[in-house]
Amino acid sequence: MKTYCSGVCFLISITINMLFSIHVYVGGGYRSSLTWSLKAAEEAEAVAAISCSGHGRAFLDGPVSDDGQPVCECYGCYTGNDCSHLSKGCAADADSGDPIYLEPFWMQNAADTTVVISGWHRMSYDYADHNMMSIELENFIRKLHSIAGNAITKGRYMVFGVGSSQLLNAAVYALSSTPSKVLASTPFYPVYKDQTMFFNSESFQFEGDTNSWKSNNSTNNMDVIEFVTSPNNPDGELRQSILKGKTIYDHAYFWPQFTPIPGPSDQDLMLFSLSKLTGHAGTRFGWAIIKDRDVYEKVLKYIYLADMGISKDTQLRVLKILKVAIKQDTKLFFDFAYDKMRDRWDRLTSIFSKSTRFSIQKRHPLHCNFFHQTRLPSPAYAWVKCEREEDDDCASLLKSERILGQSGSIFGAKDRYTRLSLIKSQDDFELLLQRLSELVSREYDSIKTI
Ligand SMILES: Cc1ncc(COP(=O)(O)O)c(C=O)c1O
Repeated sequence: MKTYCSGVCFLISITINMLFSIHVYVGGGYRSSLTWSLKAAEEAEAVAAISCSGHGRAFLDGPVSDDGQPVCECYGCYTGNDCSHLSKGCAADADSGDPIYLEPFWMQNAADTTVVISGWHRMSYDYADHNMMSIELENFIRKLHSIAGNAITKGRYMVFGVGSSQLLNAAVYALSSTPSKVLASTPFYPVYKDQTMFFNSESFQFEGDTNSWKSNNSTNNMDVIEFVTSPNNPDGELRQSILKGKTIYDHAYFWPQFTPIPGPSDQDLMLFSLSKLTGHAGTRFGWAIIKDRDVYEKVLKYIYLADMGISKDTQLRVLKILKVAIKQDTKLFFDFAYDKMRDRWDRLTSIFSKSTRFSIQKRHPLHCNFFHQTRLPSPAYAWVKCEREEDDDCASLLKSERILGQSGSIFGAKDRYTRLSLIKSQDDFELLLQRLSELVSREYDSIKTI
């Protein structure tokens, strides 16, 4: 009986071993053929496995400990070796537009979005067709626009930039004819003014708010370039040109997670940014869609002279990311991003609805061709107004309550307004809500005391 049993066990063991070998060498055969990329994959997974208590990240290019191991870079108010310590009294930071809110989506899609870059990957300045831009990536961007339904790209030229930031001035340069006035409607994204003044060209000068300028000038014999930010940073409004002359449509936020998409934009010069679309601000990638050939050639020349094109490593990474964003006709990605923004707005509005001291921008429902429903916008920023006469410096008031935002005057508006970012990490957002609800609930305490 004993001999019989050991015979059966031996046979079972041989079968299991055979099945295992078939799985390793046949089923997963390609895996055994990996050689030089395994080390990189192991390094990438090892650093990603450092949890930092969920309140930070470790990176291969980040700081290292004395024994050469990557260490955690903690988010916001968290400190300590493993980011587990929450600093008491730390301010809720809603200042910058750093779009970390999509990090969980990319972690869930790690297998499809990780890029391995060999030491000899595209060392040349050019692609094989002497182009600075990847045709494959350009095609994917066109496909993305056609699925999102937010821009016409057929028959249009495209130029890539180091973020859309670089393309802002490239566009001004391309549209200017000596001397051009550059305008934007208050409240506007401050970089339009800062860049135009910084480059200090004879060909273009910043002239401030479009509406004020229009009421004092006739546009007939003046050359003006109007920035139209739609949806607008900071207030999320969908905007149209006021002067109907030369325009630069900044569509950094014209994606379904932030706004209903009423139809495709078909403007002469449109700018888009990877930063606000997928959250990859660190990758520094943006693109321009241009109708006119002369303008296109000028933008291309600007990029060529400034950088000789965009990093090929960046273009490979963007391609990988966009392939996942487009997967299943973009539903997965935009569903995730919109759910996140809608949830943040629902929670934020419920707090502000209880306040008479503070208000946020009104949001108007619109039909969204992407989600096939009428819905409210869910902008990247809350544009907060301090309603009391005496609260004329809203950002300072909030700062004294340990909430950091950007003053209205940064956007050319009154300091009675302040911008709070809603696209930062979940930790940052939770702390912001906590501080805001404490602040609003104190309005009731003071009423009770009266
Ligand atoms: C309206 C607007 N345009 C352009 C940019 C720049 O984006 P990028 O990261 O692509 O340079 C930003 C960034 O906050 C923005 O808010």
